[in-house]
Amino acid sequence: MNLKIKRIGISGIYLFISLFLLADEGMWLPQLLQATGVYQKMKQAGCKLTPEQIYSVNQSSLKDAIVLFGGGCTAEIVSEKGLIITNHHCGYSSIVGLSTVEKNYLKKGYWAKNHQEELYCPNLSVSIVVRIEDVTKEVLKNTNGITDKKERNNVINKNIQEIVQKATQGTHYNAVVKPYSYELQYFLIVYETFKDVRLVAAPPEHIGKFGGEDDNWMWPRHNADFTMFRIYASKDNKPAEYSPDNVPYQPKYVIPISIKGYKEGDFTMVYGFPGRTQEYLSSYAVDIIVNDIDPRRVQLREKKLNILEKYMKQSEVLNLKYASAYASIANYYKKWKGEMLGLKKYNAVEYKKQLEQQLKSILQNKPTALDSFNLVIKNFSELYPKYQYYQRLADYYQECFMAIDAIKYIGNFVDFFTEYNRYKMGLSNQLDKLKTQLSKSIPYSFHLPADKELFIALMTDYFNTIQEKDRIPFLDSLYKQFQQDVQKMADYLYEKSLFLSEAALKDLLSTESDQKIRDFESDLFYRLAQSVKLNFYSQILPNIKEIEESITDNQKMFLKLMMDYKKDKLYYPDANSTLRVAFGKVKKYEPRDGVRYNYFTTSKGILEKQNNNNEDYYVDDSLRTLFIKKEFGRYADKDGELHIAFIASNHTTGGNSGSPVFNANGELIGTNFDRCWEGTMSDIMYHPEICRNIVLDVRYTLFLLDKYAHCDWLLKEMKIVQ
Ligand code: ARG
Ligand code: GLU
Repeated sequence: MNLKIKRIGISGIYLFISLFLLADEGMWLPQLLQATGVYQKMKQAGCKLTPEQIYSVNQSSLKDAIVLFGGGCTAEIVSEKGLIITNHHCGYSSIVGLSTVEKNYLKKGYWAKNHQEELYCPNLSVSIVVRIEDVTKEVLKNTNGITDKKERNNVINKNIQEIVQKATQGTHYNAVVKPYSYELQYFLIVYETFKDVRLVAAPPEHIGKFGGEDDNWMWPRHNADFTMFRIYASKDNKPAEYSPDNVPYQPKYVIPISIKGYKEGDFTMVYGFPGRTQEYLSSYAVDIIVNDIDPRRVQLREKKLNILEKYMKQSEVLNLKYASAYASIANYYKKWKGEMLGLKKYNAVEYKKQLEQQLKSILQNKPTALDSFNLVIKNFSELYPKYQYYQRLADYYQECFMAIDAIKYIGNFVDFFTEYNRYKMGLSNQLDKLKTQLSKSIPYSFHLPADKELFIALMTDYFNTIQEKDRIPFLDSLYKQFQQDVQKMADYLYEKSLFLSEAALKDLLSTESDQKIRDFESDLFYRLAQSVKLNFYSQILPNIKEIEESITDNQKMFLKLMMDYKKDKLYYPDANSTLRVAFGKVKKYEPRDGVRYNYFTTSKGILEKQNNNNEDYYVDDSLRTLFIKKEFGRYADKDGELHIAFIASNHTTGGNSGSPVFNANGELIGTNFDRCWEGTMSDIMYHPEICRNIVLDVRYTLFLLDKYAHCDWLLKEMKIVQ
């Protein structure tokens, strides 16, 4: 491999770099588009908006209609009455939360016919950015000369607290200060957060999640991944706790919707809250990700998925029990597989090595910078093996131990018993807590046979992979106690554990007795769960944190050197769940030799994929009829077809789900919801050839609201540009 790379030599490197220069890579800071020179590039790419139309603090701008939705998605405001669109998979848990067997909105969909029918979603809040300010100087105040890391962090944290307090004092706003680019910069972000958010419209799952896990992360795509909510506010248009008296929020800006369509090469812009990327990692880090971390996680998840799938097929009850766990395991399982594929295909490790070599040669006659560079590389070479060591153990904690429900559930008792012993208080004081704890577990929310099978498969993997010296001591002794027979160990634990016996648990609650507590504490399954938990929180996590801090320090230096000396590209801070703009083009791609994908899909594809024996590909009669009769109305493309989804070269990641996708005029043409599988490496290395985001065509959204669900009242609220 090395030889081959050497032979490619300078021209090869040139080719590589020039490819990247053409890239639509980047998640830019909306408040600095002009200052960083990005706006110029956007204009060249076809953008017709001014920087102030995209982001302004003084006048209303697009940013006022971009919403941070729930835990980590994006949504966009599309009416004067606070109506927002996000993804179906972002609204999923809210829809599930409102559903019962009798009123199963997940299955049947939900279409409110008026404001009264809009359903309040507890625990859902949305935030809108009020302003973003560079506070680097203020954050670093009084840190000069402090060499002790802890002391420095304390000063920084104190400064941050002060900044946040100053920014929010006397207002109803909330604020955060976030580090960007490995702490090279800090920005204050002030938000207005609304807590009364109501479900307005959701397609049935067979439309919103059409294609299920098979189609997830894939192109061509045919699901209507959207849900609509409405933001409610007090009568004076301020955030308020839920109240029937609240009224629809009046936004500062409403996004117009274009049904004119798009063509290949058209400018696109995604505006939202991307979660996490790591574009400036060194070759050392990428090597570990592609050759160690991703493969391990994938193989552990594959074991879990196979077992869960088997049980889910056994009954409807089991299917429901594991559906959401299965979906979330499957989502990143598939993503990591795609990521590895891409990183290998494009020789990411070698590419990173070349970048490092290039930087080194640029620094040849700059002794101070070269010294820094050499030190950083040396530090990486020492830090990453340590990181790898602990990360492997952390992965086993996360992907193996925490995937076994019994360990998770029994582990929940650790704090309870610790507190009980510490305060030596009577059980009665704790009884309520314990009762709540137990009510969650009787009957168990997990299925013991499935869980036991997971235990056997994952523990076997642990003992086969992790050497004796690295094993959690208690686990190792247990393993030996059972003659290194995991099956035997599982038989014993699952049969004998007091925690898995309803009778024993009821007895524990019936009369207070220290002896009973002691019996429970000496339960082997309890001691196993306890040792796993203690090991993680007292050994693995602190070590990882410490190493990560050092890595951050070195990454900071590394990135600074690149920014200062390698000026062949514009640098953007890695995604950190803050507001960003990505621009690109509507664009097809060729995932493999001989395979070409078009840039849009149509309703024809839904009929092609239809299989009513498979719920993932179920098409109901009324939708089918609309498609067959081509009752597309004004939502048809110029080609006469109903377009469902399209792909573009915008650089996006998790968190961009639900983000508005704009045309050059700032009109909404779609809602972002996924990426193409072969290009999921873009979290680490964006490649223009293969990295595409997947967008739900807004015309399919409107078609469903109009022709399928007859929600005219919602369409009337929107600004639709013909
Ligand atoms: N892959 C998309 C995103 O990361 C959608 C995930 C939800 N859909 C699913 N089929 N699991 O997160
Ligand atoms: N579906 C992802 C999300 O929930 C977006 C896909 C991606 O990672 O780009 O944010």
